[in-house]
Amino acid sequence: MSLTVKHLLGIKELTKEDIQTIFKTADNFKQVLQRPIKKVPSLRDTTIANVFFENSTRTKISFELAEKRLSADVVNFSASGSSVAKGETLIDTVNNILAMKVDMVVMRHSASGAPWFLAKHIDASIINAGDGVNEHPTQALLDAFSMREVHGDLKGKRVTIIGDILHSRVALSNIFCLTKLGAEVTVAGPPTLIPKHIQDLGVRVEYDVKKALEWCEIANVLRIQLERQNKPLFSTLREYSLYYGINRDMLDGLEKDITIMHPGPINRGVEINSDVADSDQSIILDQVENGVAIRMAVLYLLSGKRDLVE
Ligand code: CP
Repeated sequence: MSLTVKHLLGIKELTKEDIQTIFKTADNFKQVLQRPIKKVPSLRDTTIANVFFENSTRTKISFELAEKRLSADVVNFSASGSSVAKGETLIDTVNNILAMKVDMVVMRHSASGAPWFLAKHIDASIINAGDGVNEHPTQALLDAFSMREVHGDLKGKRVTIIGDILHSRVALSNIFCLTKLGAEVTVAGPPTLIPKHIQDLGVRVEYDVKKALEWCEIANVLRIQLERQNKPLFSTLREYSLYYGINRDMLDGLEKDITIMHPGPINRGVEINSDVADSDQSIILDQVENGVAIRMAVLYLLSGKRDLVE
């Protein structure tokens, strides 16, 4: 049970077998997390730095919890309040953290490609916790793992990703992950939020959200990332919600119950209404729960430690 990569930079670099190995390991860790004592000694004496240059709630807490459940020593770094404000570079920042004998680095950065750049300059394993508009590999792994729990093998399953595809690292990592696993993928949303030539990645494009919902078994709804849009790409949030937001009436009009997902954070009343996000069809909090097991699996497999996972 090992991966073909030293770092988890993106899903693009993983093989289908890597993804299945991560799922199998996460299955075991998920069982550990159901026990009264939710901790194993697998990463005892391993020190992990969580280096976050961009805001996070779920990913940051989930990685820290995963590391602690594996008995790793953990240090947390946030760019705000650090010497980055004094002009220290990314490589200097990380090399100074590594000088304190850190073994692995989990990094989120607003610049696309930052983890690949860092991987060329340091020896420690790097795990990408989201880079700009590029990839968010552990999110895609936990999303596919959560789909698999409900729908079984994803080969031939139909997944629609809806919303701000253009600015979404979750969308790109999901596309890589789901197509490697044999799922069929449609991206849906306003034409201004769907990148040109995205069909080259093996996905369908649908601008009519109702049709996209009718086609799929699983809908992964994405947040509108206003913070990454430097010019307006649709008129108003209200209009976006009217034409592209997922509401109860839309789901009730379908002939089947589809599974609803969202990576968070949710803009309630914009891309999804509360009566959808909080419904029985939603597995949004299962995604969050599964994030810990997936991140335990990734950390464990990249650490090179080979004790038991029982
Ligand atoms: N899904 C996700 O990446 O959430 P955070 O930005 O809160 O980590």
